[in-house]
Amino acid sequence: MISTPAGTPQGAPQRTPQGAPQRTPQGTPQGTPQGTPQGTPENALFASLTPAERIIVALDCGASQAIALAEALQGQAHWLKVGMTLFYREGPGIVAALKEKGYKVFVDLKLHDIPHQVRGAAKSVVLSGADMLSIHASGGRAMMEAAREGALAGYRELHKGVDGIISEDFAEQMPSGRLLPITLGITVLTSMDTQTMASVGIDADASAQVRRLALLAHEAGLSGVVASPLEAQMLRRLLGPGAAIVTPGVRPAGSSTDDQSRVATPLAALEAGASHLVIGRPITEADDPVLAFATIVSEIERGLA
Ligand code: C5P
Repeated sequence: MISTPAGTPQGAPQRTPQGAPQRTPQGTPQGTPQGTPQGTPENALFASLTPAERIIVALDCGASQAIALAEALQGQAHWLKVGMTLFYREGPGIVAALKEKGYKVFVDLKLHDIPHQVRGAAKSVVLSGADMLSIHASGGRAMMEAAREGALAGYRELHKGVDGIISEDFAEQMPSGRLLPITLGITVLTSMDTQTMASVGIDADASAQVRRLALLAHEAGLSGVVASPLEAQMLRRLLGPGAAIVTPGVRPAGSSTDDQSRVATPLAALEAGASHLVIGRPITEADDPVLAFATIVSEIERGLA
């Protein structure tokens, strides 16, 4: 048996081997609930998580503010997101600093390069301590497979002191309760519209392209995708109950939308099928970030009750 290492993620998707999406040769998950009636809890696998465990606070700020926010939210929030700006300035040390405070960390670097380079990058990201990482699905299947292999190699190196056989299946929960890092495909950036896509040679509408890339990410063995809340329901049906669907563009009822144009409330995003929500400024720029986080959690709890 694998001993349970300290810091076992509590809020990661609780997936059993049986609950993991079974990939067919065509890449369509067996039992994909294509015909699932409206209102069926297609993301029921994530329902055992508390609302707080499903919120990822995006730290789009400098290191000192990030650390201050992490300290303020300790004991309430479970996940933090480090993006390119913070990571490229501070390096992997910022991930280690946040992990030391007991957080799970989504390192959102949107990897995209030749497979060899992406394999190494994914390994390095996991070695930094990341519990979740993102990869551009438009880099193709081989590149995403390389990312998955790199992430697994990083995980093995990080946990080489731990006894036991490490599952190669990302969707499978480890006997220790520790999950392998969650790998997410980036489909179409929300900043891309049909005209911008056409200008770079993609003659598809954005939602068809999202579907195509989400399925490719799934076939390549990634754990899930990052998507707008407005695509969450379609993707939940496409990818099945075990996929991670992480949605930014989330705004509590009545708050400013900032520069986000396609927004949903936290409750609506979860009900549409999101497994996790990325929320930045409504928390980080609030006068009282702890109160803002708690208010979002209770808004979700009231809605789900
Ligand atoms: O402050 P806000 O809640 O808008 O932050 C959303 C976070 O999600 C930011 O870190 C942003 O980079 C990220 N994101 C996004 N839209 C996407 C992909 C990522 O807003 N399509």
